Amino acid sequence: MGHTDYHFETKRIHSGYSSEEHFHSVNVPIYQTAAFDLDDIDRARRLWTGAESGGIYSRVGNPTGAILEERIRDLDGGSAAVALSSGMAAIAYTILLLGEGGGNIISTSSLYGAAQESLTHFFPKFGVKTKFVKNRDDISEYESLIDEHTKAIYLESISNPNIEIYDFEAIADVAHRHGILLVVDNTIATPYLFKPFDHGADIIVYSATKGLSGHGNVIAGLVVEKGDFVYSKERFPQFHEKSHKMRDLNGNPRTPLEFAPTFPFIAQLKIFYLEFIGAILSPFDAYLALQGLSTLTERLDKQIATARKLVTYLENRKEVEWVRHPFATGNPYKALADKYFPNGAGAILSFGFGGTRQQTKEFIHALNIISYHVNIGDVRTLIANPPETTHSELLPELRELAGIPDNLLRISVGLENVDDLIADLDQAFNKVFAGDKK
Ligand SMILES: Cc1ncc(COP(=O)(O)O)c(C=O)c1O
Repeated sequence: MGHTDYHFETKRIHSGYSSEEHFHSVNVPIYQTAAFDLDDIDRARRLWTGAESGGIYSRVGNPTGAILEERIRDLDGGSAAVALSSGMAAIAYTILLLGEGGGNIISTSSLYGAAQESLTHFFPKFGVKTKFVKNRDDISEYESLIDEHTKAIYLESISNPNIEIYDFEAIADVAHRHGILLVVDNTIATPYLFKPFDHGADIIVYSATKGLSGHGNVIAGLVVEKGDFVYSKERFPQFHEKSHKMRDLNGNPRTPLEFAPTFPFIAQLKIFYLEFIGAILSPFDAYLALQGLSTLTERLDKQIATARKLVTYLENRKEVEWVRHPFATGNPYKALADKYFPNGAGAILSFGFGGTRQQTKEFIHALNIISYHVNIGDVRTLIANPPETTHSELLPELRELAGIPDNLLRISVGLENVDDLIADLDQAFNKVFAGDKK
């Protein structure tokens, strides 16, 4: 039950939930149960064939998670969503389903480290390879890599740690001309800052661990389907294969497209992947994600305003070699950011630390409020050194291609007072570079 006519701020609090259906509970209840009563065998039959929706067993669906799914579906304007136990589960399910039976994906080196590493070394073990473009901004290069086994182009809407922005509509055009999907990891942007479906994406994946839930207290993921992609039989046979698990009330096997014409992707994730692999989001974590989501717009607005000030502050520090964020002077992605991210291109930024490794160590150690850990999108402001942590698995040449030099530091802006953050950075710079004539 979507709230199609409401604004974003209203939907992120209300979509998918009616208290009358839940004992008038104002907060979404945590349905902490492994299984649900089936009532009678006719009802069981209807549940098993999808003729009636309702709880069966919490590995394949739970009402608390279903409310989160419906809320995100509505916020993104898709046809269906599934909530999973991590962002990596969302990515893995998506890549494995697309590449069932073998195939390839096209992507870029501007990816979260584990996504990059899994596409390079892990998914090929299951027959799904990835071809990486060398120049992420050259649309013709994506097209030149597409072959008859290509299933999708896979991008992050705001890349981490360099905050690069794509021309999504141009890339979606290329994908659709060749009958393949555009998959967008919208983790850093969240649906508040960017609506991938409005700009050509077919599938969205999220790590809801980050800004979507926003408090650094849950690991969660989501996949959302737009619902109008045309899956050809040649390229996507899995969408055209009849399965007993998708049978109708009379026991006739159906294809995913027959079973769920508007959400055949999510239907397969729920009916095959959750059933056989089972990485569903727990009811308690779904509750935490819903609670965090209800303050999304205020959090991001404040974090982005703070990020703007931190960019200016860092640009004026002589110990900072460069700052990367569309707010930074001369940033090459500013025009694309203005086009696709009218509310701001997120609150993560990176900068080149103009000191030795020892000074980097001392600098991070000297920070009092800004904490050193690898999460992003938290209420706390966080600093990390991706080359030695989140992106350390990358081979040196891939790291170079991704533009992640050894002196890169990343800040994920939280909700503290901006003057306190600047004072914290100030005292750390001054401490480390005291007496340095540089
Ligand atoms: C852009 C992006 N996608 C996916 C993930 C993976 O998410 P999770 O840690 O929830 O598995 C991360 C984690 O940092 C990320 O930054």
